Amino acid sequence: MVQTIFEFLNNLGFTHPLHPALTHIPMGMVMGAVTFRLASFLPKLKFLAKTGYHCVILGLLGIAPTAFAGYLDWQHTFGGEWEFLIILKIILAVVLTIVLVTIAVIDDPENPKFDKKTFFYLLTVLLAIGLGFSGGELQYG
Ligand code: HEM
Repeated sequence: MVQTIFEFLNNLGFTHPLHPALTHIPMGMVMGAVTFRLASFLPKLKFLAKTGYHCVILGLLGIAPTAFAGYLDWQHTFGGEWEFLIILKIILAVVLTIVLVTIAVIDDPENPKFDKKTFFYLLTVLLAIGLGFSGGELQYG
């Protein structure tokens, strides 16, 4: 199946890996979520907590296609070879999904507080940094 997808794209003239373009959705949304969450603690900017929460939802929706494209590139470019960075990426992607789902379920963006929910927002940035760093190491060495 992987070969068929890449051959089809090659025939269309698209010869690039698929995953890097999609990574911008979860990466960007996580950065936005944390930025808006922290900004919501500034005077008169409480409403930005909702924007941060919406970033969490969109970031969550972006994880499945991003991970699937990562899987395709891994099979195509790296021959599906198990190596530390791939295992790390899979673990980080699963943990990021769990933390984002937790925020989506327990957060009340109408009433943002500097509590454990905000800590979860900060945690997503660390996970995204880990995913980006390990991805960059895979791509550029
Ligand atoms: C939320 C999930 C994920 C995020 C945010 C993410 C993010 C990234 C980023 C930022 C890069 C560097 C891209 C660049 O060159 O500019 C990358 C590369 C890469 N990632 Fe991920 N990643 C995720 C999940 C996965 C998963 C689950 C796999 C494998 C099963 C994977 C496999 C790869 C591979 C093989 C590369 C090297 C570039 C390529 O050939 O696509 N990633 N990732």
